[in-house]
Amino acid sequence: MSFTYLYAGVPVSDRNEPAHPARSDRDILKRGPPRKDPRPGRKRDRVRRAARLMTVVSIKPYAQVHLDGLIALVAAEGWTEYTEDAERTHRALSAQGVTTLVALADGRVVGAIQVQSDGVIQAHVSMLLIDPEWRGHRLGPRLLRDGLEHAGGLWLDIRTRTEGYYERLGASRSLGFRLTREDLGLGGSATG
Ligand SMILES: CC(C)(COP(=O)(O)OP(=O)(O)OC[C@H]1O[C@@H](n2cnc3c(N)ncnc32)[C@H](O)[C@@H]1OP(=O)(O)O)[C@@H](O)C(=O)NCCC(=O)NCCS
Repeated sequence: MSFTYLYAGVPVSDRNEPAHPARSDRDILKRGPPRKDPRPGRKRDRVRRAARLMTVVSIKPYAQVHLDGLIALVAAEGWTEYTEDAERTHRALSAQGVTTLVALADGRVVGAIQVQSDGVIQAHVSMLLIDPEWRGHRLGPRLLRDGLEHAGGLWLDIRTRTEGYYERLGASRSLGFRLTREDLGLGGSATG
């Protein structure tokens, strides 16, 4: 039995001629101006800026040292359930089965994701937030991707008011309900 290996799409046995003949000076002179980037100017600039900014943002597992920065971020969004009691927030962010990641720029928390997962099948986004100054740089998808990778699971379920955003990312819509402690006749507050 004989095998034919392919090199640049050409069977090795058929390559009597070099695949790329040496270029002469004349060929080089014949070349036109460098190819233009087909993306329109504003979009191209934005993509470049986003790529540049993303190199200075690192995604790290949440640790207590990030707590104040994360609370400041959440407070600016008005999500009081995370700001009322810092110690409780820390417990929630670092509880078993919870994966919390932070996006850091110059050591400052500029984004965060909290995912709850069984590690294998189900995973739910509990919180996703980007600093307003850092929005529009694809940090959201980066945190979602890293969040699912770290947490484990086949998908991310999301309960959100930001429906349009997830639809743009390709999420499919499914109906859902929430039962509160009150609905179930349990005492205490839902956030307690
Ligand atoms: C929603 C959020 C996480 C997106 O993060 P991001 O890193 O800025 O997202 P991306 O860079 O991937 O995408 C930005 C794009 O999404 C769009 N977008 C943002 N919010 C949107 C919404 N509610 N509906 C539709 N599109 C939205 C932006 O207009 C932008 O569009 P463009 O690319 O055409 O300019 C961020 O805006 C945020 O933290 N919002 C407040 C908190 C929130 O709503 N969290 C999600 C709840 S689970």
